[in-house]
Amino acid sequence: MKIYKTKDYNDMSRKAASIISSQVILKPNCVLGLATGSSPIGTYKNLVEWYQQGDLDFSEVTTVNLDEYKGLPRDNDQSYYYFMNEHLFSKVNINKDRTFLPDGTESDSDAACRKYNETIHSVGGVDLQLLGLGHNGHIGFNEPADTFEKETHCVTLSERTIQANTRFFASEKDVPRQAYTMGIQTIMSARRILVVVSGEDKADAVKAAFFGPVTPKVPGSILQFHQDVILVADEAALSKCSELMA
Ligand code: F6R
Repeated sequence: MKIYKTKDYNDMSRKAASIISSQVILKPNCVLGLATGSSPIGTYKNLVEWYQQGDLDFSEVTTVNLDEYKGLPRDNDQSYYYFMNEHLFSKVNINKDRTFLPDGTESDSDAACRKYNETIHSVGGVDLQLLGLGHNGHIGFNEPADTFEKETHCVTLSERTIQANTRFFASEKDVPRQAYTMGIQTIMSARRILVVVSGEDKADAVKAAFFGPVTPKVPGSILQFHQDVILVADEAALSKCSELMA
């Protein structure tokens, strides 16, 4: 595992965007696994700027996102498709037919998950998977559990995650209670994984995930078993790991 400690969120975002852009330059038809949430917004902003300056070309890139709320259509401004469109897809020259997320409008969970697994397999797997880390150590919407879930599945969000995501909704009761998410095996199948984490409120999660025991109680801890993980985290997020990194 490589760890890059950055000064702050902006620095983290620039570093993460550099890693993604090198992937796109080296393999223009790569498959990027993408995440939503606050952590990657700055990363996407940098990628958009570099595209606008003519330094990046997304025309051959395929994307698969980690997750989507069950029940939200693409045009709902809280859906993850809407988020991706807002922060990246509508601002670069990506072919929207090659941007994939689980179908939040499919009420049959088995069908939605099966279809998304097929999509991920059909694009040949993920070259570079971008991840954020939840306060409880979740990755995608893989919440703390007794076992690691393998492929795309429907999850009931934990109370902590509902609380954390309430900031994006009018009120807590508007936060969907279920989501479709890539499973741990799918995430671990990515050829390279890039995790972005910022802020002191994530310091315990970073310590548990990257330096604690590997356990489904801290889903992100499985990343310790991946052979090519890059953690880009700011000083605040790494503040409880100084001795462990020495
Ligand atoms: C988002 C996702 C989540 C977030 C995590 C951190 O697609 O899958 O795992 O990465 O909840 O969220 P933020 O970045 O908002 O702190």
